[in-house]
Amino acid sequence: MDSKRLLSGLILVAFLLGNAGISFAGDIKPNKKRGQVYFRMVCTVCHMQQAEKTIPPSSRTMKQWRAYFKADKHDVSGTTRSAVSYYMSRDYRVAIKDSNKAAKKFLKLSDEQINADVREFVIKGAKDSDTPASCN
Ligand code: HEC
Repeated sequence: MDSKRLLSGLILVAFLLGNAGISFAGDIKPNKKRGQVYFRMVCTVCHMQQAEKTIPPSSRTMKQWRAYFKADKHDVSGTTRSAVSYYMSRDYRVAIKDSNKAAKKFLKLSDEQINADVREFVIKGAKDSDTPASCN
């Protein structure tokens, strides 16, 4: 098959997938509002319970948050998991859905989507951002 035909074939496949509502990781559009809801109702609730404090977006700079998400650690000794992405995963949402409304509401969204949403919220609310955000 020549490259021109291959290309139009690929374009057709992409078109069909697009029409079927199938999207790719690259398509993810972060939703800051949803990230805020998730952060406050999932992350902060646990920080209040287990760490007895909030860990607001404004506690770190944008650069520190980017590094935090990239490292994907959640350095807590003992009971909690070692990757922050776990707390944005469907596995975790399924595990807490009966007691957590946000987890239940966003159950169907992909891990990547929730990750992008929360990331957007904390970075846009970082200490050195235009709109530093607390946890309230
Ligand atoms: C099951 C409980 C729980 C959940 C859910 C949770 N955390 Fe935590 N997190 C903790 C605890 C406990 C600490 C330790 C705080 C301390 O001792 O200073 C912590 C610490 C942190 C810290 C600072 C320490 C570090 O380096 O890891 C950040 C940042 C953080 N969490 C982000 C998040 C984000 C973002 C989410 C949601 C996507 C989240 N956490 C969800 C329990 C949780």
